[in-house]
Amino acid sequence: MPVFNLNINDQSYAVDVDGDTPMLWVLRDHLELLGTKFGCGIGMCGACTVHFDGSAVRSCLLRVSAVGDSKITTIEGLSEEGDHPVQQAWLEHDVPQCGYCQAGQIMSAASLLKENPNPSDEDIDLAMNGNICRCGTYVRIKQAIKTASK
Ligand code: FES
Repeated sequence: MPVFNLNINDQSYAVDVDGDTPMLWVLRDHLELLGTKFGCGIGMCGACTVHFDGSAVRSCLLRVSAVGDSKITTIEGLSEEGDHPVQQAWLEHDVPQCGYCQAGQIMSAASLLKENPNPSDEDIDLAMNGNICRCGTYVRIKQAIKTASK
């Protein structure tokens, strides 16, 4: 099998996998970066969201062969000490309930605020509507994004 040299969280990794392997499984099964979650596997829930050169993508739909030299960031690499403004706002608003979807929610929110530091309610709804939370923490998610944008 080919070896793929990947830049993940500013570290270099070589993985020996089939090129069609989704990054979700490279992260979880090969690199033990377990913060990125499997929800649906078909791009519908957002639990697997990571950053691909800074933009939010669904890692279940991203084949390892498509990554190339691009930089992948997972929830483990978002900040050194868990102190990214979005993470701090998440704590301030006590956002998670079961927590399963929250890494994906945070990665989507961080990408939104990087591209649009002062999003409107509509901007937040649009950016976050692909991230499903079965506990229904949407109100707190929106409040936290507003706090992080200040
Ligand atoms: Fe990737 Fe649901 S697991 S979007």
